[in-house]
Amino acid sequence: MPQIFPRRANYLPAISLIASLGGGVFALVFLWYYFVPSYTDVGYMPDQPVDYSHRLHAGQLGLDCRYCHTNVESTAHSNIPATQTCMNCHAQIKTESLPLVGVRESWATGNSIEWVRVHKLPDYAHFSHSIHINNGVGCETCHGRVDQMEQVRQEKTLSMRWCLDCHRAPEQHLRPISEITTMGYEQPIDFLERNLSRVREENIRPPTNCSACHY
Ligand code: HEC
Ligand code: HEC
Ligand code: HEC
Ligand code: HEC
Ligand code: HEC
Repeated sequence: MPQIFPRRANYLPAISLIASLGGGVFALVFLWYYFVPSYTDVGYMPDQPVDYSHRLHAGQLGLDCRYCHTNVESTAHSNIPATQTCMNCHAQIKTESLPLVGVRESWATGNSIEWVRVHKLPDYAHFSHSIHINNGVGCETCHGRVDQMEQVRQEKTLSMRWCLDCHRAPEQHLRPISEITTMGYEQPIDFLERNLSRVREENIRPPTNCSACHY
């Protein structure tokens, strides 16, 4: 039988195995990096069952975030308000309005409005609002200018690297507790000094060990 393949072709299976393993790992890393939702979710802006506008309510009307997201200082998850909260006003305001049909229907039937979740970490990563709020990280730092959003969209990657970038240098991001929900907050010129001494005095040390976020 004539030799069609050169002798070193005997190594081909081994080489292709190694190559495919390597390629597999590469592909996996690639997939992780680019397709784990947070890398593609910046700008994610799902349509909601009611055209509720943060720009109108939090921006123009100037409602504080905590008027509706009442639990954000005390629990891990920031609650979405119940229909009752909307009805505090909309029992009197715009009672015939078409855009508010879904709200009135929910009120009449007792079925909650099915808001579509915008921000979502994978289940293996744990996050708590209260600890961040109570240590001086503002809503704006992680969610952007919500007061200018007609419809909420994701502004940050919410990737591990994003978490760690702040955890390694929190002094760059802290603001006074009284400014937690302020939108368009401007740091004073000497904010870094102030924050560095705050970090020292209050012993603010965000964790970087794996088990703090993965358990
Ligand atoms: C009048 C009530 C109200 C006020 C005030 C309000 N929100 Fe909301 N918020 C809602 C409702 C209702 C939703 C769910 C529908 C949506 O996503 O638009 C929501 C959703 C959100 C979401 C997205 C949640 C998700 O699904 O991931 C964020 C982030 C948010 N609000 C931040 C803020 C911030 C920051 C402020 C203050 C600047 C604020 N909200 C003020 C009612 C309110
Ligand atoms: C340190 C960053 C950070 C800060 C500060 C922050 N959030 Fe969030 N927020 C997140 C992340 C991350 C998620 C997704 C959480 C998850 O999937 O478990 C989220 C989710 C939400 C949600 C959806 C419900 C939930 O808890 O999953 C709402 C509503 C919300 N944030 C409102 C707010 C408001 C209002 C403030 C300010 C009072 C605020 N957030 C401050 C990072 C932050
Ligand atoms: C503090 C009072 C207040 C609360 C609480 C409130 N709203 Fe409003 N809402 C208003 C006002 C004021 C307007 C503007 C009315 C106008 O355009 O004259 C408005 C307008 C709206 C509109 C537009 C109506 C139209 O015809 O254009 C929608 C939709 C709406 N709100 C939904 C909600 C939802 C959903 C909630 C609860 C999460 C809520 N609102 C909570 C005061 C409130
Ligand atoms: C802008 C800054 C910032 C960002 C972004 C941020 N953190 Fe933090 N984180 C902090 C600060 C400040 C603390 C408080 C440290 C302390 O209590 O000493 C903290 C504390 C924590 C803790 C410790 C909670 C506890 O009970 O001790 C966990 C867990 C955590 N963060 C997870 C996350 C995750 C997950 C993300 C990304 C989705 C994230 N953080 C993004 C600043 C940040
Ligand atoms: C401050 C919180 C935090 C700490 C500390 C942390 N992680 Fe993560 N990690 C996250 C978050 C949030 C995600 C989800 C990121 C995403 O959705 O892309 C994640 C994702 C991952 C993933 C999935 C792949 C990826 O990159 O998305 C692996 C693997 C991982 N972490 C391992 C580790 C290891 C190992 C350590 C310790 C050296 C660690 N993490 C420390 C928050 C953290």
